[in-house]
Amino acid sequence: MANYPPEPFRIKMVEPIKMTGPEERRAALKRAGYNVFGLLAEEIFIDLLTDSGTGAMSQHQWAAIMEGDESYAGARSYLRLTEAMQDIFGFRFFVPTHQGRAAENILCAVLLKDGQYIPSNMHFDTTEGNIRARGGRPTNLVIDEAFDPNSHHPFKGNMDLDKLRTFIEDVGVEQIPFGMITITNNAGGGQPVSMENLRAVAAIYKEYGIPFFIDACRYAENAYFIKLREPGYENISTLEIARETFALADGATMSAKKDAIVNIGGFLTLNDEVVFQQVRNELILREGFPTYGGLAGRDLDAMAVGLYEGLDEDYLAYRLGQTAYLGEKLLEVGVPIVEPPGGHAIYIDAGRLLPHIPQTEYPGQALAAEMYLEGGIRGVEMGSVAFGYPDPDTGEMIHPKMELVRLAIPRRVYTQAHIDYIAKTLANIVARKESLRGYRITYAPELLRHFTAHFEPL
Ligand code: F0G
Repeated sequence: MANYPPEPFRIKMVEPIKMTGPEERRAALKRAGYNVFGLLAEEIFIDLLTDSGTGAMSQHQWAAIMEGDESYAGARSYLRLTEAMQDIFGFRFFVPTHQGRAAENILCAVLLKDGQYIPSNMHFDTTEGNIRARGGRPTNLVIDEAFDPNSHHPFKGNMDLDKLRTFIEDVGVEQIPFGMITITNNAGGGQPVSMENLRAVAAIYKEYGIPFFIDACRYAENAYFIKLREPGYENISTLEIARETFALADGATMSAKKDAIVNIGGFLTLNDEVVFQQVRNELILREGFPTYGGLAGRDLDAMAVGLYEGLDEDYLAYRLGQTAYLGEKLLEVGVPIVEPPGGHAIYIDAGRLLPHIPQTEYPGQALAAEMYLEGGIRGVEMGSVAFGYPDPDTGEMIHPKMELVRLAIPRRVYTQAHIDYIAKTLANIVARKESLRGYRITYAPELLRHFTAHFEPL
């Protein structure tokens, strides 16, 4: 039986959501070109599009917002954030940015040259985009278990150490201006990376003199997975695990919209003073003065508080427990998912759920559309629509390994009844899954087509 941990908070302010009728939903989805990105928020009952910037801030964060210091330079808010940054991450320098991709952009602008490679376990799509935009080549070297939805490896986000070493030898150290790892591995199902793996990756990068940057979006969830699953860490606090993690690296990028539980914010942090000077210049050009980045003073204060709240172990037990509960409920009603559940999302294996719909007819799209029609739920396709691309030589479509639909869970937002409702909606779909049909794309831009593509049911 799935176990739901009681929320370690109670509700003081509510945001009404409204269930629409089936006819209304049918009309809305048709108007949106059958793409859930085109729906209005008010047309949705439960929104699982992303866990980014969609969390509920605490009373402490809202109180901190009221203390925001909006001075252009040297604001108190900046000093409070600096204190938290030094305490948790421990790098010598940092700059606030408006979100994660801005930090990635600055890092690539300063360090990356045309034709160079950036290895990682798996890059998230904005990181990949920022590397490509500078002429770089993002390379994913995650362990093979990451692609097996049935593998119960406890750290499916781990880097394959042999692949990393071979890769460095093959392309040459001078072609790798920095190396990365993403914790947790969002593109691979929100799966964690072990401390043992982090240590080994850091040692390899160090051996070759390659600066090591961590994509730290979900560093607190990763720390709690280490506490739960890695021998020797049972009695170590998540704060200490986080400190140990970042002590291995030369810097980090972060979208604070995830584990810092704010609606906007991010940063780039690092040890190298010369690089930092370039980072600061780039920041001033594109984001703002170094003591506020692309943010208001109040945003820095909310982040300073949220960085600690994200690490709170009662919160993390609830957070990971809620995600695991949804995963177990879905398995109970016959929905195949990527196992074990990740930290921030459940990834439904739509390819296995709907084997009668071929990849060319987008089973993930079919399921995402059906979840909305059946229950007003919005998830996101992560299969052939998002990741399929034409072979540059033959023009033939290349499909990804898996046809997934991601259900990302906003932090501290939905209750057990909402999660049960999601499982019930999926159970209704499972009961008539043979009747689901595929889709045809009627419009798609060349890049990142899933955001704006239009479809037609077959
Ligand atoms: N890195 C990872 C691992 C991410 O998951 C994201 C965002 C980013 C970087 C970029 O951060 O959005 O603040 O610019 N992920 C969101 C998602 C959008 O839905 O998974 P950002």
